[in-house]
Amino acid sequence: MSTVSEDARRVSELMHARYSVRGFLPEPLPETTLDALFEMAQTAPSWCNIQPWRLAMTSPPATRALSEALIQAAKSSLPTPDIDFPLVYPEPYQDHRRKCGGALYGAMDIARDDKAGRYDAWLRNYEFFDAPHLLVVSRDKRLGEYATLDVGVWLGLFLTAAQSLDVQACAMASVAAYPAILREHLHIPAEEIILFGIAFGKADPSVPANRARTNRQPVSANLRRYPAL
Ligand SMILES: Cc1cc2nc3c(=O)[nH]c(=O)nc-3n(C[C@H](O)[C@H](O)[C@H](O)COP(=O)(O)O)c2cc1C
Repeated sequence: MSTVSEDARRVSELMHARYSVRGFLPEPLPETTLDALFEMAQTAPSWCNIQPWRLAMTSPPATRALSEALIQAAKSSLPTPDIDFPLVYPEPYQDHRRKCGGALYGAMDIARDDKAGRYDAWLRNYEFFDAPHLLVVSRDKRLGEYATLDVGVWLGLFLTAAQSLDVQACAMASVAAYPAILREHLHIPAEEIILFGIAFGKADPSVPANRARTNRQPVSANLRRYPAL
């Protein structure tokens, strides 16, 4: 990136350095860090400034209690997310998805045909990768799809703010698979759609999954320019 200022260079560095962490140290974050993180993400723009993100956060010991309930559900029942999970990814998305799985399972040294290994790796989602904090993100059902877009903008700012505070995170749709348990533990109102979770805390550098990295397409794969260059 050709930078125009010191600020741009720093923000670019933060964005490029961020990656999804899937192995955390157990210590909860200091209150001052949590305050700074949520304050920064709260600046997110939204259509008509409706600010639709609704957040339920756990700290120890509530995080483990929720994790145990979700693991139990994941082992014994089928997912019933409020928003259907995609079943089929057409190309080129399927190729991106395959490479993402390859990077993760490769870092964890789990072979393609190792079904038990893959199942255990999937269950790690419901341990929140041992993170001290889980955030469950929801929005009012009465709002249309654009409100989900607003929440996505908030997510991007949250992840960038976390990176600036040396906090690591993993956004997790998997957590939304068992909404009844989330509602019960976190008193999320029935009028809200549960969108995703975020595990966050400090990364454990010794966890193999944290060696996984994904790539991005060149910008030209996503950007159409008129007139063409
Ligand atoms: C909305 C959303 C849901 C996600 N759900 C999961 C998930 O359930 N489990 C998981 O391990 N990673 C999940 N991820 C992380 C993505 O796999 C990751 O962001 C992507 O592969 C790009 O890698 P990076 O974050 O390391 O750059 C999710 C990310 C987003 C934005």
